[in-house]
Amino acid sequence: MRRILVAGNWKLNGSKQSIQELLDGILAGMSEAKTDVAVCAPYIYIPLVQEILTGTAIGYGSQSISENDSGAFTGEISGSMLKDFECQYAIVGHSERRTLFCEKDEDTAKKFAAARKHGLTPILCVGELLEEREEGITEDVVSRQLDAIIDLEGVEALADAVIAYEPVWAIGTGKTASPQQAQDVHAFIRGKIAKLNADVADKVQILYGGSVNGANANELFAMPDIDGGLIGGASLKAEDFLAICKAA
Ligand code: 13P
Repeated sequence: MRRILVAGNWKLNGSKQSIQELLDGILAGMSEAKTDVAVCAPYIYIPLVQEILTGTAIGYGSQSISENDSGAFTGEISGSMLKDFECQYAIVGHSERRTLFCEKDEDTAKKFAAARKHGLTPILCVGELLEEREEGITEDVVSRQLDAIIDLEGVEALADAVIAYEPVWAIGTGKTASPQQAQDVHAFIRGKIAKLNADVADKVQILYGGSVNGANANELFAMPDIDGGLIGGASLKAEDFLAICKAA
């Protein structure tokens, strides 16, 4: 049985005060949630998150990572820096990184490799644009995004990773993929991996992301290939995030 993971992606949100309140609220309500939970914070708040979450059941990580270990890369944060603050996860290839910051499949693969090299679990985001879904090329897009990782690191590398299927048209739009639409792509992803390594396919957690909330999480997480969620907007309020954790 794969465990369910509910991970929050806070994106560019939060302050010292709001993060303290949010995590206090989540910790207070957590005893009822029987699932793995993590939050991915803006880099600068990771020390604060570490201080609050150390010794609790909630994991944490970053929203990106440099592909480089050190050197002349102004503004970057490396895997060893994240490990210095005991991060467990690093999101790589989020659609906002791909579209707004021009990160290509190959860049995502290098970041994925950097995360693993430093003992972080990459949360690899894949997903199609609305035009791509309408063109009927969702599977081609997701396949290409996965191949970049498999070509660089080998399929076995996915055993130490989490995949998040996030259809771009469902992110922050309030338009969730239906449980069946999401399940179809999750099953495609697992099937593609299974052709290369059945064991890895069976083990890898595949999360769904895109307008998940307390009302739709239950149906989504009940699908056989959906192993939890990567949550944006609804991870910013303790009550909303807890409702999703409880649905899991
Ligand atoms: P929303 O939950 O706000 O749609 O964001 C999803 C997401 O991008 C998580 O990484």
